[in-house]
Amino acid sequence: MTSRILIKDIHTLYGASRNNPHFLKAKDMDYTETLRDAWLLVDNDQILDYGSRENMPVNADVEYSAQGGCVMPAWCDSHTHIVFAAGREGEFVDRIRGKSYEEIAAAGGGILNSAARLREMPEDQLYESALRRLHEVMQTGTGAIEIKSGYGLTLESELKMLRVIQRLKSASGVMIKSTFLGAHAIPAEYKNDREGYLRLLIEEMIPAVAAEKLADYCDVFCDKGFFTPEETDKILEAGWKYGLKPKIHANELAVSGGVQAGIRNHAISVDHLECTTQEEIDALKNASTIPTVLPSVSFFLRIPYAPARQMIDQGLGVAIASDFNPGSSPSGNIPLLMSIACNNMRLTPTEAFNAVTINGACAMELQEHAGSITPGKKANLTVTKPGITLEKMVYYFGSGHIKDVFIRGQRL
Ligand code: NIG
Ligand code: FE
Repeated sequence: MTSRILIKDIHTLYGASRNNPHFLKAKDMDYTETLRDAWLLVDNDQILDYGSRENMPVNADVEYSAQGGCVMPAWCDSHTHIVFAAGREGEFVDRIRGKSYEEIAAAGGGILNSAARLREMPEDQLYESALRRLHEVMQTGTGAIEIKSGYGLTLESELKMLRVIQRLKSASGVMIKSTFLGAHAIPAEYKNDREGYLRLLIEEMIPAVAAEKLADYCDVFCDKGFFTPEETDKILEAGWKYGLKPKIHANELAVSGGVQAGIRNHAISVDHLECTTQEEIDALKNASTIPTVLPSVSFFLRIPYAPARQMIDQGLGVAIASDFNPGSSPSGNIPLLMSIACNNMRLTPTEAFNAVTINGACAMELQEHAGSITPGKKANLTVTKPGITLEKMVYYFGSGHIKDVFIRGQRL
């Protein structure tokens, strides 16, 4: 039985495109096709058609009024760590009192703190808490998401995290990509044996993850105090051998060589980039690797923002992602993230919109299914409250502007 939903009374439809848009760069990032006074027809889980009021179809099974709100593609959040056992509010207070993120990490807090908690937590409990977080971000409009492991740091606990992500994939209509991040930190028990942990990653973990088909991508935290570019090369080469494409963390804490490591290993994306020089921007100009910036990390850790404005002005395209995690960005609220990006990175609302829709979809290789209002794509949609345009949503920051979210044609 087919079911057609007609979404009518749309103030403005954003990201509408009959031809599937590709990754947007430079000035193209500041344009999105809009349609005023529009309708959108959904056929089961897919977008079927759209148009303006004068040629509205009459043969839908169900009608839904957007009541003068706007319809946008659901957000594509290409970098998160939503599987974790506990928040780190204590470390937040320590940072307010003056300790740095790196000092906390060096003293055994940070990622190692999260790893200790996660190892103790049974899989079912971990799954329930991650599902709650997934539902939370769906309510603010996220319809596609990448989720990483990396708080296990043992074979058993990394597999546990990835199985949780696998279960999230089958339990929700949100499109999910899964990333193996065993190289998130050197675990305490390997403190004096980096080589040993690298062997574990390369010889045991990656083959086991691939054997169970638990991941789409392989990630490394290539940064000062974590993994070197040479170690990153080895891990990513092992990942490629098992069909895991790279997506990496680079240049959050220092100019680490991580961008170049990502490019030479043909990474889908290099993410963070808070510490970036002209040399990195130039290197990205000749690469297909997508620079992904994470503005809420800069906001929350009080560190510099990645130079997204300069990147776009120099011809690059960027994706924006939340990095939702307990240490550096305990939020997955994309409208708020867009406000932070516009205000602090000096992106226009349209650039931020493209960075969290079509460019975010590209950073997860989901551009055929998500990231724009295109017939044939999944009907994952965000509906704003009456009168809330893209500009207003970003300007009135921190308010709940999302009225409804549709995932695969179903209203949440
Ligand atoms: O993307 N930088 C590395 N990983 C995460 C943070 C991890 C944590 O602090 O728990 C990030 O910021
Ligand atoms: Fe991250």
